[in-house]
Amino acid sequence: MGSRLLREIAKEVLGEERARSIWSRIDVIGDIAVIKRPLRDAPSLEEYRLIAEKILERMPYIRSVWLQTGSVEGDFRLRGGLVHLAGERRTVTIYREHGCSFKVDIARVFVTPRLNYEHLRVARLVRPGEAVLNMFAGAGILSIVIAKLAKPSIVYSIDINPAAYELMKENVKLNRVEDVVKPLLGDAAEVVYRGLRKSSDRVLMPLPALALKYMDAALAALRGGRGWLHVYLHVERVKGSGHLEKAVSAVKARVEELGWGLAAARARVVRSVGPRLVQVVVDAEVEEAGH
Ligand SMILES: C[S@@+](CC[C@H](N)C(=O)[O-])C[C@H]1O[C@@H](n2cnc3c(N)ncnc32)[C@H](O)[C@@H]1O
Repeated sequence: MGSRLLREIAKEVLGEERARSIWSRIDVIGDIAVIKRPLRDAPSLEEYRLIAEKILERMPYIRSVWLQTGSVEGDFRLRGGLVHLAGERRTVTIYREHGCSFKVDIARVFVTPRLNYEHLRVARLVRPGEAVLNMFAGAGILSIVIAKLAKPSIVYSIDINPAAYELMKENVKLNRVEDVVKPLLGDAAEVVYRGLRKSSDRVLMPLPALALKYMDAALAALRGGRGWLHVYLHVERVKGSGHLEKAVSAVKARVEELGWGLAAARARVVRSVGPRLVQVVVDAEVEEAGH
């Protein structure tokens, strides 16, 4: 598998001890590899270039290697400070997941292979005929996986980044889901209040920075006074399952503040996003008071 090879390459260049800090920080997205620079004890640019050359040599399906010197930044959640290391100087590629193909641009749209399982997990929860709203859809990956793997009647797919919206439109065609996935450009709350009130059975909120803030719009989008929310949050890791409880409490408090209640909730860790921070998703079944 690719990850074993990446580990070997990192070891050859950096030695066993130093390799540890980098090999798990390499993302392969289509035919592009991105190496994320650690905050401490980062290899030199020369060492990175050597690793990049070896990646191209030993992993022929990789054509371009980049170093990511910053974190994922800004409203559009883009990889900061990309430096070209080796191979083609290209940021556009075709990324594949769950039998779907996506045109992505690693410099202009959020994309990570680390949500691969989460996409499948959510798609499996969608019941036939459901109307789904994805408030922060990026290039449409999760929306399209849902359209392909489940049988929703519609997936409203909003993103505020024009580049993401353009790629999403292309990806909808590429995967032949024009009848199901509806790309929408704009601020998620504005788009909901303008035309998607009481439109959906399930709302996805895969943007931790705005998930709680935009909860009013998510609830306004639900029809029939009930539905499911998938709320992604960043929470501090604590011993045991304390971070999961913390995430559920935060969602519960916000939902109740808005006059709704939690009928059911469960949480799971999606991935680690920092030394002490984890991304958690809360799957919450909510109902409006009086329903
Ligand atoms: C973490 S990414 C989405 C990830 C995507 N669901 C996936 O799995 O590939 C968050 C997205 O939210 C978008 N975004 C940020 N603020 C927004 C807003 N106010 N309304 C709609 N989309 C927004 C960003 O442009 C970005 O593409």
